[in-house]
Amino acid sequence: MKHLVSIRDISREEILELIDLAGKVEKNPEKYAHALDGKIMATLFYEPSTRTRLSFETAMHRLGGRVIGFSDAKVSSAKKGESIADTIRMASAYSDVIVLRHFLEGSGRVAVEYSDVPVISGGTGIQEHPSQALLDVYTIYKHFGRLNNLTIGLLGDLRYGRTIPSLLYAISKFKDNKVFLFSPPELRTRMSVLNDVRDNIEAIIRQDLKSNIEELDVLYVTRVQKERFPDEASYERVKDFYVIDPEIARRMNKNSIIMHPLPRINEISYEVDSLPQAKYFEQAKNGVWMRMALLLKLIGETK
Ligand code: NCD
Repeated sequence: MKHLVSIRDISREEILELIDLAGKVEKNPEKYAHALDGKIMATLFYEPSTRTRLSFETAMHRLGGRVIGFSDAKVSSAKKGESIADTIRMASAYSDVIVLRHFLEGSGRVAVEYSDVPVISGGTGIQEHPSQALLDVYTIYKHFGRLNNLTIGLLGDLRYGRTIPSLLYAISKFKDNKVFLFSPPELRTRMSVLNDVRDNIEAIIRQDLKSNIEELDVLYVTRVQKERFPDEASYERVKDFYVIDPEIARRMNKNSIIMHPLPRINEISYEVDSLPQAKYFEQAKNGVWMRMALLLKLIGETK
């Protein structure tokens, strides 16, 4: 494993190894406090981010490393017209690992071609968000102790949200999982993604959540991706299609969990936050442990 720009590039064994390492790091972070002393991580963020950038930066700091980068492309030379290729070349000359967030499909692959150091996608295009998928499966594994034989409901913007295909590809590496895909017709999972995972996942397309809510182990809610819509009116039509409220949450079985990659807009009401099913803030915290594991794996000596 040299780079991580797509969850499809890594095997089930590598995912399980990362989960194992993230668990060790979470249990005993002090042990790893100097594991990346002297190393530098560059965060090149061409799109807004709170959790991904801050948790990668926290992860690097907690491992003893340092961070350079930009969180707004307008203050980088991209504004003057510099290509991703040239920016990556420079960042790779200055750092030991690059985390890239970019709106363009395929930007992760381009970065790999021009970088001498490992590249991690911190969310690229509408399909790739591998470190999010890893922290998602880490969260599921911690709660259920397994990544097979689960019933998972993915809900919301299954078309433009990149955490959805990434999580589907991660789950498809494990056995006997059933996935409900809840969305309005306009926001259904792209056929190309469905075709890729169909052999390994039983995927059921639904619009109405209520009839299957009791069956779910995980309800994974996503934000409608306003910025990726062709026009405002089509966004307005679907933006409040689902709102998870306490009444819905209480119908879920006792051991089930509600996840969300965040940011949340209106799709989960604030009253749900205090219910035992609400896992999304813990999920975001898990991002630090998983990203520490990922950095250790890519540029550390400790495996
Ligand atoms: C996601 C993203 O950027 O893809 N955010 C994240 O990293 N947790 C989800 C989103 O923006 O809706």
